Amino acid sequence: MDHFDYVDGAMQVEQVPMTTIADAVGTPVYIYSTATLMRHAQVFRDALSGLDDPLVSFAVKANPNGAVLATLGGMGLGADVVSGGELLRAIAAGIPADRIVFSGVGKTADEMRLALTHGIYQFNLESEPEAQMLSDVAVSMGKTAPVAYRINPDVDAGTHAKISTGKSENKFGIPYDRAIESYGAARDLPGLEVRGVAVHIGSQLTDLAPLEAAFVKVGTLIAALREAGHDIVRADLGGGLGVPYDPSQPLPPSPADYGAMVARVTQGWNVRLMFEPGRVIVGNAGVLLSRVVRVKQGAQAPFVIVDAAMNDLMRPSLYDAWHDIRAVAPTGERGSANVVGPVCETGDTFAMHRDMDVVADGDLVAFMTAGAYGATMAGTYNSRPLVPEVLVSGDKWAVVRERPPIEALIAADIIPDWIGG
Ligand code: LLP
Repeated sequence: MDHFDYVDGAMQVEQVPMTTIADAVGTPVYIYSTATLMRHAQVFRDALSGLDDPLVSFAVKANPNGAVLATLGGMGLGADVVSGGELLRAIAAGIPADRIVFSGVGKTADEMRLALTHGIYQFNLESEPEAQMLSDVAVSMGKTAPVAYRINPDVDAGTHAKISTGKSENKFGIPYDRAIESYGAARDLPGLEVRGVAVHIGSQLTDLAPLEAAFVKVGTLIAALREAGHDIVRADLGGGLGVPYDPSQPLPPSPADYGAMVARVTQGWNVRLMFEPGRVIVGNAGVLLSRVVRVKQGAQAPFVIVDAAMNDLMRPSLYDAWHDIRAVAPTGERGSANVVGPVCETGDTFAMHRDMDVVADGDLVAFMTAGAYGATMAGTYNSRPLVPEVLVSGDKWAVVRERPPIEALIAADIIPDWIGG
């Protein structure tokens, strides 16, 4: 469910025609719908309404735009951050530190210091050496860090290998079988207060079974840890719920299905449950709007060359991801096309042999479901400035991140004076 609809034959976002934004801001441009964002956050929260005071911390990596974070923070969501930068962005957007969780395998001492200074809710530790480092940092500051260990349950999430995180060969978490020892060691470290268990097995999951298998293991571990004398009061169940990208595929489980499974599996745990959803909150709330530069005849199907490229939306080239591609003003005619960007790599391909609206030079096309892991993963390859972002709310819209001028990219390079010229 989203708020990108056709009205009188042309796509608009809420009450704003896509053409209005394209004309004013240019293309490519990311466009987000506030109504969709808020709806997804509310649906996710409603799905957990049977739980006692759950903490929903939005995974900032999915979309760190300050206006998006402020919208979600305003609804009471917290933030799951994986860097000092994300932490500062969440705080700048008004998300209180006591709703912030810090995940990630490579937290540095500086990042730990920053998070301790702000007094975040929890550090999700991913290794024993990391626990040692956090202990040292906390002691040096005279502080106590609330921690959970992220366990690696060795469960196959059944998603793309590059976004699967819960198998024993992945870099994430502490091995499940060593967890009791790791927790024992953490208890003996000064400056740490062991509070919970965390798990996150991957992203874009379209089946609840692997999540359930991982949560069952968390439940077993909580009981064992309590038996060993640990005061476990929180369980962080991560993110990972998939969203529909391809309308021809079966729908992924809904937040309500997920919430019901969580309620069933976690019954009697007697902890505060925490969640780190990213994609399911912002995925369908954003599109990448692009203009067709030209259509070029190909050997089999025409190449639709658009002004967005792999650097703007990396998901197709990185994960062979499927994004629906729709004409903003469809003629009703459909055909097969290859949709590509201008970057000089064959990997700069959004779709091959795609049955889609027939488009012509100058037409606008929308890459749907691009609100998660879209703008945030963009780069400047081929000296293409980062894509701007626009947020719509009803009939209002605002540029929430400007397109940097190419001069800024050039000015950032420093040419040492030993080079002549
Ligand atoms: N928590 C942790 C510790 C994570 O690593 C992630 C995502 C999340 C929560 C949020 O997961 P979500 O609910 O969004 O599935 N760039 C990839 C996705 C990478 C996900 C990384 N971790 C993509 O475009 O598909």
